[in-house]
Amino acid sequence: MPPVIVWVLVGLAVVGWLARRWWEPRLAARGLALRDLPVKWWLVGYPQTAARIVFTWRRLCQVANLAVSLRASHQRVLGKDTVVEGRALRPSVPRLSWPMPTRHGLKVRVVMLPGQTPAPYYAAARAMEHAWRVHSVMVTSPRRGHVLLTITAADPLTGELPAAERAGELLAADVGWCEEGVAFVIDFRRTPHWMITGATQSGKSTLLAALVRALAPQPVALVGVDCKGGMEFSGFGRRLTLLATSRRDAIEVLERLVREIQARTQVCRAAGARSVWDLPEKARPVPLVLLVDEIAELYLTDGSRSEREAAERCGTLLLRIAQLGAALGVYLVAAGQRVGSDLGVRVTSLRAQLGGRVAHRAHDEASAEMTLGDINKDAVVVAQSITEDEQGVCVVAMQGRWTRARSHLISQEERAEIAATDPPRSPFLSGMDSAPAKGGQRE
Ligand SMILES: Nc1ncnc2c1ncn2[C@@H]1O[C@H](COP(=O)(O)OP(=O)(O)O)[C@@H](O)[C@H]1O
Ligand SMILES: [Mg+2]
Repeated sequence: MPPVIVWVLVGLAVVGWLARRWWEPRLAARGLALRDLPVKWWLVGYPQTAARIVFTWRRLCQVANLAVSLRASHQRVLGKDTVVEGRALRPSVPRLSWPMPTRHGLKVRVVMLPGQTPAPYYAAARAMEHAWRVHSVMVTSPRRGHVLLTITAADPLTGELPAAERAGELLAADVGWCEEGVAFVIDFRRTPHWMITGATQSGKSTLLAALVRALAPQPVALVGVDCKGGMEFSGFGRRLTLLATSRRDAIEVLERLVREIQARTQVCRAAGARSVWDLPEKARPVPLVLLVDEIAELYLTDGSRSEREAAERCGTLLLRIAQLGAALGVYLVAAGQRVGSDLGVRVTSLRAQLGGRVAHRAHDEASAEMTLGDINKDAVVVAQSITEDEQGVCVVAMQGRWTRARSHLISQEERAEIAATDPPRSPFLSGMDSAPAKGGQRE
C-alpha cells in the first residue's frame, strides 16, 4: 500500500477516535449512545440539513421578517431631494449556533437581536420547515434573549416504535413516544385528570391499554368503566379492582369512589394533612385510577325519566370525582369520541377539570377544537391533520405545552400477563373492599 494511503487511513482513524471521544460524553449526558443514532441520518441527513440551515439562514431571516435593517443610521439627506449615500444596506440577521444533532433531528440556538421577541420566530416555524425540508420545527425560548429551534428531520411516529424503556415512578405511566423522541408519560401527580378523544378506530382504547400496562406493576388500584360491552377492559382480568360494564354498574362504582373520597377526606382532616401525599407513607391510601372508555354511553338517554336521571347521576358523580379526587389520590381518565356539552349536563364543567388532553384523529373539525381549543390553537390544527392511517397518533397537551405522540401497541400476550398480575390489597379505606359492584370482579 502506498504510504500516502496509509497516512490517510491513520488520519481518518485518529479523527474518528477524537470525534468519538468528544461526542460520547455529550450524548451520554442526554441519555443516548452512539449506536442509538441511525447511521444514515448521521452520515447523510445531518450534514445535509445542517448545511441547508446555515446557507439559507440569511435569506430566510429576510423573507420571514427575522432580520432587522438599521436604515436610519445609514441614510443621508442632501439638499431638497432625498439621496441615499454610502454602502448598500445589509440587514442584520440574528446569530445562529452550529446545528447540533439529536436522535431525530437537530437543535439550533439563535441569539435574538435587541428589540426582538420570540413571536416572529414562532410565526416563522412553518417557513423553516419548508426551507430546510424537515418534518417539524419547534420554537421555544428557554433563556431570555435566545430562542431554541428543535428540529425533527422525519416523522419519528411512523413505522415500528421501540418498546417502553423504563418502569416509571409511582403514578407516572410510560404510554408511548413523543415526536421529539422522548417517552410519552402520563404523570398523574403532575396532571391528575385526563381526557382522550378521537373517532372510532383512532387509538383511544389502545392508549388506555398502554396506560393499564404501565400502571399494572405499580401499587395503584385500577377501576374500569366501559359500558360498550366491556370488551376493552375484560382482558385485564383481576388486575382491575372493579369493572363496570353497564350504566347501572357504573353508577354503583362511581358512588363507591365518591364514598372513598369522603373517607379519605376524613383521614386527611384527622391527620391535619392537605392531601394524601402529606400523610406518612404507612397511612397513605393506595392511589386509585378510574378509566372510563366510551364516556358518551354514561350520558345516553332515550328521553325516559329513569334514563335521564341515571345520565344526570353519572354526570354529577364524575364531576365530583374530578373536583375532589386529585388531592385524595383518586384520578380520572375519560375517553370518548367527543367530550362536549352536547353529551349532557355538567360535561363542560367536567372538561374544565380534565387538565391533560389527548386528541386522536377526529370525525369532524369541532372535536379537535373541543379537546385542544382552550389550550392551544396550533395544537388544534396539528390534530386536525392526523390522517386515517396514522392510527394511535395523537396530540397531547398538558400544562401549557403540547406535542405529537403515539401510544405503544399492547399485544394479547401482554394483556394475559397483566391479567395474571395481582391488584394492590385493600385500596378502599371506606371498608367496602369485599363487596364488589355488580359486574365487578375481585380476587
Ligand atoms: N399506537 C398504535 N400503533 C399502531 N396501531 C394502533 C395504535 N393505536 C391503535 N392502533 C390500531 O388501531 C386500531 C383501533 O384502535 P382502538 O384503540 O381500538 O381505537 P378506538 O378505541 O379509538 O376506537 C387498533 O386495533 C390497532 O390496530
Ligand atoms: Mg375503543
